[in-house]
Amino acid sequence: MDTTTAVNLQDAVHESYRELFNDTPLLVRSPGRVNLIGEHTDYNNGLVLPAAIDKNIVLAIGKRDDNAIHLHSLDQGQSYATTLDELERSPLLWPDYILGVAQQLIKRGHTLQGFNIVFAGDIPQGAGLSSSAALECATGFALNELFDLDINRLDLALAAQAAENDFVGVKCGLMDQFASVFGQEHRLIKLDCADFSHEYIPFNNPELRIVLFDTQVKHSLASSAYNERREQCEYGVSLIQKHHPEVRSLRDATLEQLDRYVKPADEVVYNRCYYVVSEITRLQDGCDDLRKDDFESFGKRMFDTHGGLQHLYEVSCQELDILVDLVRDDPAVLGARMMGGGFGGCTINLVKAEEVDRVVNEVSRAYYQKTNKTTQAYIANISAGTARLNR
Ligand code: GLA
Repeated sequence: MDTTTAVNLQDAVHESYRELFNDTPLLVRSPGRVNLIGEHTDYNNGLVLPAAIDKNIVLAIGKRDDNAIHLHSLDQGQSYATTLDELERSPLLWPDYILGVAQQLIKRGHTLQGFNIVFAGDIPQGAGLSSSAALECATGFALNELFDLDINRLDLALAAQAAENDFVGVKCGLMDQFASVFGQEHRLIKLDCADFSHEYIPFNNPELRIVLFDTQVKHSLASSAYNERREQCEYGVSLIQKHHPEVRSLRDATLEQLDRYVKPADEVVYNRCYYVVSEITRLQDGCDDLRKDDFESFGKRMFDTHGGLQHLYEVSCQELDILVDLVRDDPAVLGARMMGGGFGGCTINLVKAEEVDRVVNEVSRAYYQKTNKTTQAYIANISAGTARLNR
């Protein structure tokens, strides 16, 4: 979010809260994310390399005297009300990201009372930039501050992920919520999902920009296919476990084990597992590239990741493949691939700063010619994670 948008969003949310509830709220913000490399590895106990970006959910919250929950989404222009005793899925969907987090905090033994929330955001929705994770994290952080719950950042991210898994029903890994909560300016987060240890890798080359091209499509099979991929990975692990009980996830598996125990049993599951195991290695090699400032080599690995997601993991789609193919031979684009869960959303591209305008123009024109759809380009600036905006 640039400073003007940030201030406008904050003012709008603040103002709306005062109008609706006649009170001064506590304000927080929580960002969306990009992921440079390491896709579909988080729920396999693997590694990911995300970063928080300058697009946020801004959320205003205040206490109530009863146990009611009153919610208002400025972007949707919708309100929803329930109580702490009736935390169930709503017909509107967006309240679920808030209610699911409240439920998780209660499950973890925290005491809440009623609250009001107004929120808005500038994270494009359905674009794979994790606007829902940002809303979950903003909610958890805000409830923590409001009721002095003393929850640490890791537990906030885990509660937000659990809300998505159990309440919303998407069996996502921890990447999106972790990136939103732990983001730091100009730094990527190398997160090890096996034990949540993480390190920051500086990413601040003035000659490069992270450009996102939004396909502007979200195919309907996205969440069912996501859960199916997860099950396929678990099945692959179970085949190896019969011979190597010490292998608990694809993180522990080797390509040799896949060849021996998974390939003869199920070719499709083998492809899924092969992609994941090689992607974890690719991420580690990619981090070595970054430490040496070798962005050319890093970019090539991004294209390799796309190939794996397209042909082995099969979570890409025509629109994503077109966007990647359009930049493949452009010397100003070091790397490109689909990002996030797949079946729509954005590609992430590493582009030479001085050529960004030309690349965006050319890709936009060609994408329209090939698909009859309009792409939207975003520049992602790596920014700080979840924070309180007022005292
Ligand atoms: C979605 C999920 C994440 C992760 C990515 C794929 O964004 O929410 O947990 O699995 O897909 O890498």
